[in-house]
Amino acid sequence: MHGAQIAQVSGVAGREALRRRAAAWTPEHKLSYLRAKVIGDCRRCPLARGRTSIVFGAGSPRAEILFVGEGPGAEEDRRGEPFVGPAGARLDAFLDEVGLSRDQVYIANVVKCRPPGNRDPRPAEVDACAPFLRAQIRAIDPKVIVALGRHAAMFLSGRHDLSLGRLRGKPLRYRDPKLGDKTIPIVATYHPAFILRKDASGGEQDRFAELVVADLRRARSIASR
Ligand code: URA
Repeated sequence: MHGAQIAQVSGVAGREALRRRAAAWTPEHKLSYLRAKVIGDCRRCPLARGRTSIVFGAGSPRAEILFVGEGPGAEEDRRGEPFVGPAGARLDAFLDEVGLSRDQVYIANVVKCRPPGNRDPRPAEVDACAPFLRAQIRAIDPKVIVALGRHAAMFLSGRHDLSLGRLRGKPLRYRDPKLGDKTIPIVATYHPAFILRKDASGGEQDRFAELVVADLRRARSIASR
């Protein structure tokens, strides 16, 4: 942690001076500042009341591939790490299959606190948390973003009311006004929890898993360009 530089700032002039200094920070420093000073003990939405941990994200701050899920589940909430429950074990197997490890990529979620009973995050909760994911993306500056599931794909692409099946394979791009004209390619794929809910005996689970592996190979190929 860069204690001296990570001081609280206040006022328009202070924030502008900080913004100028921060442009030269490393990705590690930007993520540390975001977690410690911007998010802190966040109470910006009702999800704060039911959480055990804020699940910020994990992996390499310099990753070329960023994975974005929907929000923490029970195990993630307990441990404070993304994708460490059953869906995480499936994600690890997918990463392994395409020759990636967790420390080569970064994994984050659209919302950082667990929605009760694993319900979908509400629009107001997504809106409250959105600046944090956007700041993570600017800090990491990945070459490609893998959207895990429909909610992440909709949030990142800004395309709403489409199923994952319709979003998958489309040339989606992530945009952020703070990035100017720069856009980041998005590969939308099925959420590992969705795969786990598919029938394993009739081959359906395997069919969807093959699609995810093909998508992750495509993400690797985009990242290597
Ligand atoms: N599902 C998600 O979308 N994110 C997690 O971190 C865990 C499960």
